[in-house]
Amino acid sequence: MSYPYQIKSLDQYHEVYKQSVENPEQFWAEVAATFRWKKPFDKVLEWNFKEPNIEWFGGGQLNITENCLDRWAESQPDTPAIIWESNDPAEAGRTLTYKELLAKVNQFAHVLKNNGAKKGDRICIYMPMVPELAIAVLACARIGAIHSVIFGGFSAQSIADRINDASCNIVITADGGYRGNKQIPLKAVMDEALIQCDTVQKVIVLNRTNTPVSMLKDKEVWWEEEILKVEHAGNPFFEAEPMESEDELFILYTSGSTGKPKGVVHTCAGYMVYTNYTFVNVFQYQPGDIHFCTADIGWITGHSYIIYGPLSAGATTLMFEGIPTWPDAGRFWEIIDKYHVNILYTAPTAIRSLMSFGLDVLKDKDLSSLKVLGTVGEPINEEAWNWYHYHIGKGNCPIVDTWWQTETGGILISNLAGVTPQKAAYATLPLPGIQPLLVDENGHIIAGSNAASGELPAETVSGNLCIQFPWPGMIRTTYGDHERCRQTYFSTYQDLDFTGDGCFRDQAGNYRITGRVDDVLNISGHRIGTAEVENAINMHTGVVESAIVGYPHDIKGQGIYAFIIYQGETLDNDSIAHDINQTITRLIGAIAKADKIQFVSGLPKTRSGKIMRRILRKIAEGETENLGDTSTLLDPAVVDEIKNGRR
Ligand code: WTA
Repeated sequence: MSYPYQIKSLDQYHEVYKQSVENPEQFWAEVAATFRWKKPFDKVLEWNFKEPNIEWFGGGQLNITENCLDRWAESQPDTPAIIWESNDPAEAGRTLTYKELLAKVNQFAHVLKNNGAKKGDRICIYMPMVPELAIAVLACARIGAIHSVIFGGFSAQSIADRINDASCNIVITADGGYRGNKQIPLKAVMDEALIQCDTVQKVIVLNRTNTPVSMLKDKEVWWEEEILKVEHAGNPFFEAEPMESEDELFILYTSGSTGKPKGVVHTCAGYMVYTNYTFVNVFQYQPGDIHFCTADIGWITGHSYIIYGPLSAGATTLMFEGIPTWPDAGRFWEIIDKYHVNILYTAPTAIRSLMSFGLDVLKDKDLSSLKVLGTVGEPINEEAWNWYHYHIGKGNCPIVDTWWQTETGGILISNLAGVTPQKAAYATLPLPGIQPLLVDENGHIIAGSNAASGELPAETVSGNLCIQFPWPGMIRTTYGDHERCRQTYFSTYQDLDFTGDGCFRDQAGNYRITGRVDDVLNISGHRIGTAEVENAINMHTGVVESAIVGYPHDIKGQGIYAFIIYQGETLDNDSIAHDINQTITRLIGAIAKADKIQFVSGLPKTRSGKIMRRILRKIAEGETENLGDTSTLLDPAVVDEIKNGRR
């Protein structure tokens, strides 16, 4: 197997990039032609950013699972597709070859069909990181149902909101899941969610932890028993459903600056082509390599770089059920040693956290199999970058700093491992086909910031990061509310896709992402909207009003600082803070808990009643002197009180 579109040198990158912006349709048509189509496409691209309307590979029909499974089960049946490592180091791991994975996906596709699933249905998946999660995802794709995976850390309320938003008719879950020394009662959480969900007709439950669960007659069935029925029927092949290129493949919910999380929609062909192209080029995957992406499949990184990118490339992907710090902080290094991992893709938060445990846990671990390291999800600080480079990569492994988003489907800006130059803390250059640029507040394009123009800035420039041309993996809509998609991404600046991130570009053309410029926080690489957390806090009895800001956190990158006006029963502040965090956990999930809570008598507001977050942000960051102009505040005295009570 070889990848004809894998870029091999810096010169070639520049050449390919140029072609990709001069003739994007031809460029992507050539990449797409290497996939398995049930019917070839006849129109490469139709688009406008006004509505927006984005259509790639029109007229084509395919099924992504034939590209991820069948073609490899035919040409390399015994190559491991998924290597799975249990949470418990004493439990044997599992390996599924391409042939085996295809067989399991076919089986489970039958289970779904037997339980009433059909093309176009929305199916919610709430599962631990076991191979059955990947099997469930792929089986949905095989029958043409739209999967909506929900991260195992979300609360019942968050699950209910997501199931109802997409009117899911089937849920796939497990009795429980293991995470470190904890057991998560997934089915019980799902049961609580389902009280609010009228559309769900079937619940398929995998037994992972032998946790006692309640199973309702006719509606709730065991995964294992349903599989037995298919086996009794002789395990028939499942013919993959023909899908139009633009049929929806999945929904993944993500937080924005306003309202509830929105369902980002990705479609079959474009997403497949783009995750494959970026996987092969960014990580420079070579046949036989073992790729270890440490994300959870509940996030976009897991969708694109545990499942679809690697499998569509016939690669071996390693899936890990547990956490990096259990039974001790050497777990990642032990896994790399055990399986001779070649590519490690993780988050800066994990690196910073593991750094803090010192070098002892590395001593007896052989990391010499590593060839490429990657990071994703948040800006990486130079200290963490250097530690990763010297202690994990031993100075020999290129680090790819990959910038992208749930909405972009795959990596947009990154160096290509060992092929284009790396620069600590810089995502560096755009992938072929990606046309980033920076704008100022008024939407004027900053001179020298537009990669596609070929011009470089005379000195480092900064602005808001936008993309001016579509790529196959981009968001198509927000589920059930296309106008929200238009407003969020395509209305801020005319004819541009606004990413919500601030960014620098240096004289060599490298981009450096500095973080969100909207009211979205990035906590341990997880996106959390301030409005979402405020709404949860405000649900707590006694809370009058609240304001959330981010502040720099040594490990998490950003922490959550909550300013709260509280008028309820006067218990001690610590107990109230505790209860408020319980409320956040109940309504969103533990990932959104506040790190610091400060009770205040008022919030800094303008005369028109708008909270001046800039001031709160500065106080939370520890800046108490230069708060800027406070003269427009309704009650400037409140600022002194807040400064004095800082946590
Ligand atoms: C941030 C994760 C700096 C950014 C794939 C973006 C990054 C948000 C990087 C998307 C990076 C992601 N450097 N910041 N390499 N990668 N981000 O949707 O703020 O969970 O907008 O997708 O993470 O988060 P999401």
